[in-house]
Amino acid sequence: MIKRIAVVGTGQMGAGIALVAAQSGFDTLAYEPSEKTRARAQAYFEKKLSVTPASEPGSSFTGSRIKPGMTAFCSDLSELEDCDLIIEAIPEQESLKAELFEKLDQIAKPEAILASNTSSISISKLASFTKRPEQVMGMHFMNPVPIMKLVELIRGQQTSDKTYEAVKATAEKMGKVTTTSKDHPGFIANRILMPMINEAFDALQEGLASAEDIDTTLRLGANHPMGPLTLADFIGLDTCVSILKIMGRKPSALLQQYVDAGKLGKKSGQGVFKYV
Ligand SMILES: NC(=O)c1ccc[n+]([C@@H]2O[C@H](COP(=O)([O-])OP(=O)(O)OC[C@H]3O[C@@H](n4cnc5c(N)ncnc54)[C@H](O)[C@@H]3O)[C@@H](O)[C@H]2O)c1
Repeated sequence: MIKRIAVVGTGQMGAGIALVAAQSGFDTLAYEPSEKTRARAQAYFEKKLSVTPASEPGSSFTGSRIKPGMTAFCSDLSELEDCDLIIEAIPEQESLKAELFEKLDQIAKPEAILASNTSSISISKLASFTKRPEQVMGMHFMNPVPIMKLVELIRGQQTSDKTYEAVKATAEKMGKVTTTSKDHPGFIANRILMPMINEAFDALQEGLASAEDIDTTLRLGANHPMGPLTLADFIGLDTCVSILKIMGRKPSALLQQYVDAGKLGKKSGQGVFKYV
């Protein structure tokens, strides 16, 4: 049974995953190497948790679970040794994730499950860097995690039924609805979303229409809650490029130019649109 969860990497996705885990009653620990990102995530936890029952007297929040005024960040990965489930949310680069999975496999207790929030990287491949491939699984949360109801579950070649059931039950305890995808680049969500986003950048580059009109057309014409260019800004343009490459698709030249210019979307304050 999953009681203690760790989240590795508290950027856009990891901070949301850790928050929802803590709010759902799991003892939650986090590891983040960047001091700046750690401080931002800590402030986010304090702001969000201070208005939930978690801060009320008699709350069931105990131990080192993330909660207001208390740092549940560990300074070393080795502190995750007693976690039941470790969710990785570091950048979408196979080499980085491979190195981390190798380390986590050595640190985590034998029965622990290692999950990845990857958008597109093969779970079977990540599992191959561990000696516990049957306990490795994809747990793909959507952005922003506290608002989006879906978690896409991905079984690797060797993921056991026991691991799948435990991760599914954990996602459901976090209030999420799950779908299950085969381990194929992009899974369900990005296989369908990324070609649309890439096409939107090509259309913008060709001068088909303004960025605003491309987004408005999809919002009001296809009933999407946000247009593809805004969605790309929210995902992170660097992450979109990585996902497209892993899916074997050539990123739009304009999308690549934004990334080369350091315009990564909402997280950097500027992508196709500006964010203050
Ligand atoms: N952004 C989205 O909309 C979205 C949605 C679903 C899934 N994802 C996936 O989630 C993962 C994270 O994406 P993100 O948007 O949160 O990225 P991000 O860049 O906002 O955050 C990544 C964090 O990982 C940290 N990090 C880097 N290397 C590390 C390491 N070796 N060990 C520990 N931490 C490390 C960074 O300091 C950073 O804070 C990616 O795999 C991405 O594909 C993203």
